[in-house]
Amino acid sequence: MVAIKVVSERNYEVKVDCDWLAELLPELTQRAHVAVVVSEKMSQSVRKLLPDQPNITLIEILDGEDGKSIESLNFLWFQFAHIGMTRNDLVLAIGGGATTDIAGFAASTWMRGIDWIAVPTTLAGMVDASVGGKTGMNSPVGKNLIGAFHSPIGVLIDLSWLSTLSDRDFSAGMAEVIKCGFIASPKILEIVSGNSLQELRKSRDVTSRLIAESVRVKAGVVSADFKESFTREILNYGHTLGHAVERDSNYQIRHGEAVSIGMVFVAELARDRGLINDELVSEHKRILESFGLPTTYEKSALPRLVKIMSLDKKNRGAGIRFVVLTGVGNTTRIDDVNDDEIFKAYERISV
Ligand SMILES: NC(=O)c1ccc[n+]([C@@H]2O[C@H](COP(=O)([O-])OP(=O)(O)OC[C@H]3O[C@@H](n4cnc5c(N)ncnc54)[C@H](O)[C@@H]3O)[C@@H](O)[C@H]2O)c1
Repeated sequence: MVAIKVVSERNYEVKVDCDWLAELLPELTQRAHVAVVVSEKMSQSVRKLLPDQPNITLIEILDGEDGKSIESLNFLWFQFAHIGMTRNDLVLAIGGGATTDIAGFAASTWMRGIDWIAVPTTLAGMVDASVGGKTGMNSPVGKNLIGAFHSPIGVLIDLSWLSTLSDRDFSAGMAEVIKCGFIASPKILEIVSGNSLQELRKSRDVTSRLIAESVRVKAGVVSADFKESFTREILNYGHTLGHAVERDSNYQIRHGEAVSIGMVFVAELARDRGLINDELVSEHKRILESFGLPTTYEKSALPRLVKIMSLDKKNRGAGIRFVVLTGVGNTTRIDDVNDDEIFKAYERISV
């Protein structure tokens, strides 16, 4: 087990490759009330694992993005009231990023913020969503526009959850791991270059090392800039176009898959500006495709994607801003990209 410290509005540890239940036992016995938030898909398996104690209540919400809604939040508040949750009680979020996001947001709003612990069960949740203190929900005005910075008191990463994850979800999580490699960790790129998806899934040791290294990257960045004033933005590598692709596909494309497409796009953009060479662009494609991740998107989608990116831009009150590489582990931002540059780079990644 490796414990990685995160410095934020409250400091906490992310325990990688731990036994989540063994780690939780003291909390489960000390707290008067523990509200365990799970999605309907995970609830049966979680119920079987949890000790049968009167202070523990399992609360089931809808699975995936459907559960990240105002209806879920309302439901969670009512359930908290029904249980009699006070400032000293605990929310335990067990599930993928969608579940930990909404459970963390419910914890942030209940009595102006109570303790919560994240037990991520997807690779994306382990390396990304559960670390960094961003909680939130979806709404008609946009994805993740409503939320709060409210760090958990701990994150417990138990690799045994990954055995039931689909290859598609595992690969989607790998996109964020590979992203951490390009922006900050040549070591990650070295490990992923020598392993296929199936090899990785079979090797707990290699998976554990990759998760720990990715968490170290994210923990380092968010500890330096918790509220995303500048540094934290590098975690958005591949996300500008990625978010637009995700939305354009009506969320049929997984977040990680969209980020994969977005990373190849910004690599093309950076190459055109002379910031990186052809080899690094090819390395993006080779590594991402070796994990079954998409690196192309529909040619006819460009006007729609530009519109979505421009809307995002308006929300942030700045120009369309891309995080690009100047080399492995070195990033910069560009926000003066013209339509012609976007068109040329997109031509090369579209089909
Ligand atoms: N807060 C943040 O900083 C942050 C960062 C990145 C992503 N996110 C959010 O995370 C969400 C995406 O997370 P995700 O990719 O984990 O998706 P998800 O939570 O929707 O989970 C994907 C699917 O996997 C299932 N699942 C979960 N654990 C499983 C397991 N062990 N075995 C089998 N199936 C399992 C879920 O039930 C769901 O159907 C998005 O809402 C995104 O906005 C948040």
